[in-house]
Amino acid sequence: MKKIVITIDGPAGSGKGRIAKYIAKKYNFIHIDSGLLYRKTAKLLIENKINLNKLDQIKQTLIKNNNFSLRNNNNLRNEHIGKISSIIAKINFVRIHVNKQQIFHTKQKTKKKGFVIDGRDIGSVVFKNADLKLFIEVNPAVRAKRRHKQLIDLGEKSIYAEILKEIKLRDKQDIIRKNSPLVVPKGAHIIDNSNSFRKTLIKINQLIGQIK
Ligand code: C5P
Repeated sequence: MKKIVITIDGPAGSGKGRIAKYIAKKYNFIHIDSGLLYRKTAKLLIENKINLNKLDQIKQTLIKNNNFSLRNNNNLRNEHIGKISSIIAKINFVRIHVNKQQIFHTKQKTKKKGFVIDGRDIGSVVFKNADLKLFIEVNPAVRAKRRHKQLIDLGEKSIYAEILKEIKLRDKQDIIRKNSPLVVPKGAHIIDNSNSFRKTLIKINQLIGQIK
């Protein structure tokens, strides 16, 4: 039977990961967090001390390491790796590498009913023919507040004003980049997740109920 594909795009800290996890659990789907794959790529390049201006070095390292698991790892969620991920995400070769991995994971045999994939370009580039496309919006100040709390809960140092600055910079980098910029994908439903998460979920469940 054909598996359902749901894509969730949106800026950093919009809550798309939380929404994707909810959908995966409720509907018995596999969750592919594409941001995590960028973060794993960034970590690999950092660990191998790769000069990010040397495309050849990046290519060689990624060709040798082309099978990242989907397993989450909290030490990937820090600001440094986030920053480097955002820089390497501008490189077309890196994007193709991460896209291939997402597609690879959707081709694996599974008893799950479908896939929910979240990121910045999932509905616009990687899975253009998805059954349902969502775009999550939240204003930057609310996102910075949430991210600040998340970091404090993880035991990391965090200054709200710096987080807000970082979020705005990250948005800018994602929106203005030439390769796969953050856009509302064609046919996507825009969901405002600034207020009640419960209301967001009601809306999403309605949309999933309409998938044919
Ligand atoms: O979502 P997360 O913050 O974990 O993603 C890390 C970085 O990877 C983002 O800042 C973004 O620049 C990049 N990214 C991307 N395309 C995706 C997912 C993430 O460019 N589909």
